[in-house]
Amino acid sequence: MSNNLLTVAYIVASVLFILSLGGLSNQETARKGNVYGIIGMLIALLTTALSLDLTTYGILTSVVIPGAAIGAIVAARVAMTSMPELVAMLHSFVGLAAVLVGIANYLQESPSLTPVESTIHQIEIFVGVFIGAITCTGSVIAFGKLRGIISSKPLLLSGRHLLNLGMITASVWLGFEFLTTTNLTGLQALLAMMAIASILGVHLVMAIGGADMPVVISMLNSYSGWAAAAAGFMLSNDLLIITGALVGSSGAILSYIMCKAMNRSFISVILGGFGEQTSPATPQDGEQPQGNVSTATVEDTVELLQTAKSVIVVPGYGMAVAQAQHTVSELTKQLRDRGVQIRFGIHPVAGRMPGHMNVLLAEAKVPYDIVLEMDEINEDFPQTNVVLVIGANDTVNPSALENPQSLIAGMPVLEVWKADCVVVMKRSMASGYAGVENPLFYKDNTRMLFGDAKKNLDAIVAKFAQPSEETPNFRHPAKVA
Ligand code: TAP
Repeated sequence: MSNNLLTVAYIVASVLFILSLGGLSNQETARKGNVYGIIGMLIALLTTALSLDLTTYGILTSVVIPGAAIGAIVAARVAMTSMPELVAMLHSFVGLAAVLVGIANYLQESPSLTPVESTIHQIEIFVGVFIGAITCTGSVIAFGKLRGIISSKPLLLSGRHLLNLGMITASVWLGFEFLTTTNLTGLQALLAMMAIASILGVHLVMAIGGADMPVVISMLNSYSGWAAAAAGFMLSNDLLIITGALVGSSGAILSYIMCKAMNRSFISVILGGFGEQTSPATPQDGEQPQGNVSTATVEDTVELLQTAKSVIVVPGYGMAVAQAQHTVSELTKQLRDRGVQIRFGIHPVAGRMPGHMNVLLAEAKVPYDIVLEMDEINEDFPQTNVVLVIGANDTVNPSALENPQSLIAGMPVLEVWKADCVVVMKRSMASGYAGVENPLFYKDNTRMLFGDAKKNLDAIVAKFAQPSEETPNFRHPAKVA
């Protein structure tokens, strides 16, 4: 294949990758975005294969075919809730690939390079192996924590920041050693740095609480992108550089968005040791909210919904646990058929992974145009009759805004309490992921509908399906201490 054709194919693939990312940013276009990505990757693979020497085809097919088959089987079998584990595993492969490419590239003599080019090439190799090794071992630890093979408790060694700094300093020193060597004598320094970076990757992720792993996964996603970009520099492959940069920057932006939505420091995530105070905790002493809890029955909720003109549904992790999304979709249809304006308010970190709620609602065929982001819907709560909070807790906790001592102080939340009435569906008064008491449950306009979200929603949907005269009159919710 001619170089010009290869360049054109790479440009087309790069544009498709950018279109893919653009498509994935919105539910309505996500499917199209995926198709762009698949076509882009096919073009990239085919053109790269066609540009290779014929003699390499044997090796290529012997690895690509089994690899593609294993990938397809694993992707088809993986449960939605295990997706972060799979992603962690795949990131470790990217890191390992960058390490292997770096070492192979170093061992491959390139006599045509000028001294300056040779130094630049060595820097590319060193940086690529460094990022790759951190990504590889960090991702393996992340996988182990998500799988429960490794304890999810953060490992907080005393002086761990100094330890990290020491490992980075040693790597920089080895880098200088590496650059001053010639004729492959720098291999020792390269391998020593690889060992140190591997330990650093383990240590950075071990220091993170297991439940905070999704943020770390998106950080490692970013690292894997930079590792791929570094491999692109080593191999002088423009497409790999562009793809790596796209993955690296989009992963970093996603991590930043998640950190902001969880009120965490971006820097502390990069440096590790994240989750010290934020792993699932017991309810905080001294945060006991004042007031009574009002309960509601299924019938009360049906009555509220029947008289409502506008309803906002706020789903959270509990909806995913209860697998209630299809019933939610059915209720949405019933209310829309009755002329009720029903919309969804999605918090950026609702659930346990980015886009968790959006994926579930899309799976249940809830129309995209009524699923709104927190910023789009927060101002509408005061004009809303009923809010149905389905298995959400931290993401609707007013203490984030009202109590500066709260663990989640400063975290933006869905201000559901501003509506006329809030029905909270959960099984108990237990706290959510952050382990913080929720004053929402004690507010005058809140009614707690206790029980499994799916069971209660099934009952509500069944009541709506009955002729209207069979629905009992609304009774004021019982007050319990
Ligand atoms: P949470 O605050 O975790 O609360 C979920 C609630 O669902 C629990 O209080 C639980 O109460 C209830 N629940 C569980 N099973 C249920 C069932 N079968 N039926 C009804 N309710 C059920 O959820 P959230 O509001 O979605 O907030 C997410 C939290 O996770 C945030 O703190 C966020 O920072 C954190 N986090 C998110 C991510 C991402 S990327 N989304 C990543 C890491 C951490 P009961 O036990 O009383 O039923």
